[in-house]
Amino acid sequence: MNPDPLDFLLADLDRALAEEGRNAKVTRLLAEYAQSGAVDWKRFAFFEANYYSRNLVRRSELYELIVLCWGQGQRSPIHDHAAQRCWMGVLEGRVRETIYRVGESAPPTAGPAREFAAGGVAFIVDDMGWHRIEPVGDGPAVTLHLYSRPIRECRVLDEASGAILNKRMSYHSVGGKVLTGTR
Ligand code: SIN
Repeated sequence: MNPDPLDFLLADLDRALAEEGRNAKVTRLLAEYAQSGAVDWKRFAFFEANYYSRNLVRRSELYELIVLCWGQGQRSPIHDHAAQRCWMGVLEGRVRETIYRVGESAPPTAGPAREFAAGGVAFIVDDMGWHRIEPVGDGPAVTLHLYSRPIRECRVLDEASGAILNKRMSYHSVGGKVLTGTR
């Protein structure tokens, strides 16, 4: 069987993330994939009724690659990235990323917001702030997230109380198979 575009991306990511300081290269790889018209990501794209879904494509020591599906009105909490690097490539639809300054002693403040259409790639590390991702426009959105290294737990802002909580990350599907009882 011939390799799919996603197989080539994974092989390139294995190489790029094995070296230090290859952020620009990784951004380019994700942009090339997101702009290529490849559709093999669709076998990982499972929507959930009540919450955006996190669908694992691959996890290694160095990174995890996840397809996130965003129905209308489904948005992430305001969260950090546990000192890891986070890339987001847009595969379908349009999303907004809002950056926040969050601290223990002062109320959170919203910083700049940027919108990304299909083919766009965003990058964030904790020094740049926390963020929230949400779909914009009429339809759903699908995004491809790369975390290096994988994130098992991150901090989220509980907007009702203002408290900062630890959140264990979970997957809706792994390798194209939906899990049950993950949330
Ligand atoms: C998530 O991975 O659940 C949220 C999206 C992100 O951090 O980019």
